[in-house]
Amino acid sequence: MNKRRLIIGGNWKMFKTPSEAVSAAKALKVKLVNIEHVDVVVCPPAIDIVSVREILKESSIKIAGQNMHWENEGAYTGEVSAGMLIDSGCEYIIIGHSERRHVFGETDGEVNKKVLKAFATGLKPILCVGETLDERNSGHTEDVVGRQVRAGLAGVVLSSPQQLVIAYEPVWAIGTGVNATPEQAEEAHCFIRKIVADVFDSSLADEICIQYGGSVKPANAEELLKNKNVDGALIGGASLDPEDFCSIIKIAEKF
Ligand code: PGA
Repeated sequence: MNKRRLIIGGNWKMFKTPSEAVSAAKALKVKLVNIEHVDVVVCPPAIDIVSVREILKESSIKIAGQNMHWENEGAYTGEVSAGMLIDSGCEYIIIGHSERRHVFGETDGEVNKKVLKAFATGLKPILCVGETLDERNSGHTEDVVGRQVRAGLAGVVLSSPQQLVIAYEPVWAIGTGVNATPEQAEEAHCFIRKIVADVFDSSLADEICIQYGGSVKPANAEELLKNKNVDGALIGGASLDPEDFCSIIKIAEKF
């Protein structure tokens, strides 16, 4: 099947102490030696990044931060900067995850400042967008997702499709065990690609990787990933167990 190269991300959220993260990274390094056709990105808590990087530095597994501030540095207690993440070995940064938006009140404007900072520093943003259940049930999915994509990308000058990843993560599917159906995912991804074509141009939009996130597990990965416009997955719960995470990656290798 002729598809874009898939990216599978494991978002560990606020799980795994530094020593637990080291064990997980060691397991992944061993289990994923033969992965060739998929890009794998792990997203550890900030405090775990340096030690995870040390273990994975000779592997092809990439590292992402889960969040960052948009300023270069300053009196922002508890925050991390793009420069800190880059110096720790991150190549990607998750921006606008639904937990940042809905638990911590992150706005589209803040998401945009972070995206612009990522581009300015060379970190590749994984821009997360997605509607709540109420928004879906009231027929507003496209309004919400379209607004989040356009606002998140405002002012971005994209020269290569590899600089940006978008993750469609319906809020109602995150951590609930209820994934979007393959048809719902494909429909949303096509819509996002259309918006990206409008924001940039259609040849860039054709090549941009759009991940699906929300209750992805070994049992549903194949039916989701086989969709033409689903270019990978961003995985929370199932990424915490290296066995499950690697089974999903092995499924992705087939496409
Ligand atoms: P989940 O989380 O796989 O646990 O649903 C996905 C995410 O938050 O990226």
